[in-house]
Amino acid sequence: MHLKLMGRASVAVLLLSLLAISHFHFSGAEDPYRFFNWNVTYGDIFPLGVRQRGILINGQFPGPDIHSVTNDNLIINVFNSLDEPFLLSWNGVQQRRNSFEDGVFGTTCPIPPGKNFTYILQVKDQIGSFYYFPSLAFHKAAGGFGGIRILSRPRIPVPFSDPAGDYTVLIGDWFKSNHTTLKAHLDNGKKLPFPDGILINGRGPNGVALNVEQGKTYRLRISNVGLQHSLNFRIQNHKMKLVEVEGTHTVQTTYSSLDVHVGQSYSVLVTADQPAKDYYIVASSRFSSKVLTTTAVLRYSNSAGPVSGPPPGGPTIQVDWSLNQARSIRTNLTASGPRPNPQGSYHYGMINTSRTIVLASSAGQVNGKQRYALNSVSYVAPDTPLKLADYFKISGVFRPGSISDRPTGGGIYLDTSVLQTDFRAFVEIVFQNNENIVQSYHLDGYSFFVVGMDGGQWTPASRNQYNLHDAVSRCTTQVYPMSWTAIYVALDNVGMWNLRSEFWARQYLGQQLYVRVYTASTSIRDEFPVPKNAILCGRASGRHTRPL
Ligand SMILES: *[C@@H]1O[C@H](CO)[C@@H](O)[C@H](O)[C@H]1NC(C)=O
Ligand SMILES: *[C@@H]1O[C@H](CO)[C@@H](O)[C@H](O)[C@H]1NC(C)=O
Ligand SMILES: *[C@@H]1O[C@H](CO)[C@@H](O)[C@H](O)[C@H]1NC(C)=O
Ligand SMILES: *[C@@H]1O[C@H](CO)[C@@H](O)[C@H](O)[C@H]1NC(C)=O
Ligand SMILES: *[C@@H]1O[C@H](CO)[C@@H](O)[C@H](O)[C@H]1NC(C)=O
Repeated sequence: MHLKLMGRASVAVLLLSLLAISHFHFSGAEDPYRFFNWNVTYGDIFPLGVRQRGILINGQFPGPDIHSVTNDNLIINVFNSLDEPFLLSWNGVQQRRNSFEDGVFGTTCPIPPGKNFTYILQVKDQIGSFYYFPSLAFHKAAGGFGGIRILSRPRIPVPFSDPAGDYTVLIGDWFKSNHTTLKAHLDNGKKLPFPDGILINGRGPNGVALNVEQGKTYRLRISNVGLQHSLNFRIQNHKMKLVEVEGTHTVQTTYSSLDVHVGQSYSVLVTADQPAKDYYIVASSRFSSKVLTTTAVLRYSNSAGPVSGPPPGGPTIQVDWSLNQARSIRTNLTASGPRPNPQGSYHYGMINTSRTIVLASSAGQVNGKQRYALNSVSYVAPDTPLKLADYFKISGVFRPGSISDRPTGGGIYLDTSVLQTDFRAFVEIVFQNNENIVQSYHLDGYSFFVVGMDGGQWTPASRNQYNLHDAVSRCTTQVYPMSWTAIYVALDNVGMWNLRSEFWARQYLGQQLYVRVYTASTSIRDEFPVPKNAILCGRASGRHTRPL
């Protein structure tokens, strides 16, 4: 990893060298820059003991972590050495005013094979634990993901002492097939099969050890980077104190195990307070008839011996256990977030919502092929990124409002679904799950308040049980089987933002849409122009990015 941190003094020199690619005067020139040069290649990996073709970043699987501090500018030059187009997306990094850098096909043209593209991101007003992943062509099944951490600025108080160590723990279900095989399966109209195992940091059973010293406390940043399964995470004989969820400092509750749904990130503190030996770290699948389990090792520096006994068991199909745990995760209102003012100073519960959008998922066949939909629309990507069509005023790529605010009850059909919304509106979105699986949804560009979840059909009366006081603000939420989850979101970030199922085959086969947060203003106070170095494709080919 090539990483360089520069202070204010070097910025002037730096800006000259960045002139060719950057829109530096729109990002915080006061804020430090960090540079990354990433080479994306195929490489043999053996996570479950058989050789398969993985996607590596600088030779690594999983890819290198991004370490940053609130407001840093991240300059990430990605060389695509694969034989197919590639994009990276930044799960949870809000890219304020800048959906062009979001790295999904609705906003950004793919990096052609053999070419490079420099992402220019700012982790503006954010803290917390997130991850990046490849967004196109089912690449996520082959790797290409890694952790992102955004630390608080030095003067901003953090509601716990500095841990002795800080570990990224990427957990996820895994297939022994390479991604092209899985993609062909989906393209042929079939469902994704059941996975072969679970990985922790890219390794199978006992492939990874986290080293600790007795008596010290460590932070674990756990993200579920898998393709579909909710996982339960636990450590033999150790408790976990939850401290942060996707950028929100939580009430510090202690858990003996934690459900991490696909796409979600959690930070826990673990104190090495047991006799010095090795202990199992376990991740096992939830809500699946067959339970997949894998282990890693928590290794004390003066360990008296290897892991022993059976790995601790955890919940398997129990939904209520998970729902109760989810409801117990709340914001610490007096703790600081990215700014010194307490997280509770934004009284989201006092703001009236101006619109309610109810999104119901469904699964079915279209033209004999498996598809998934939201309010009956199964998303199909146009030939041109929606955001570029918007920017260059290319008509015929999408129709704003091409999806209903309510479930239609009709059969699934294909369309390029774009939800039209007003800049600065405060909206309520209800995810209604009438299917018998756990779902997980992510919204790019935002963090939202998870105000309620329960079994059955959502009705306006469901609002009576909303948490309007200390709900957690995050970017990925689960929806239990035959249940609903409601979120509040302040649409203060202009752009074209992907709202998707994190169940990756469902996302790939249409369970996603774009939220167009629109303003007629063309001021850079509201939205940055297209980046100077943007790759232009489809009907945007040959257009001109703005002059410097
Ligand atoms: C990327 O890695 C491949 C394989 O090691 C190498 O051939 C290529 O030159 C590298 N590209 C860059 C830009 O470093
Ligand atoms: C590709 O990388 C080179 C440096 O090797 C850089 O000068 C150029 O700006 C990059 N291209 C894009 C589109 O970011
Ligand atoms: C909440 O944050 C405050 C301020 O940092 C801290 O003193 C307190 O212990 C935290 N409370 C809980 C319950 O986590
Ligand atoms: C992908 O996996 C299949 C089945 O194991 C194998 O035949 C094929 O060669 C693999 N493809 C690549 C490019 O490695
Ligand atoms: C919210 O709506 C209620 C009922 O319509 C109204 O009484 C109240 O003034 C509104 N609050 C705000 C902050 O607009």
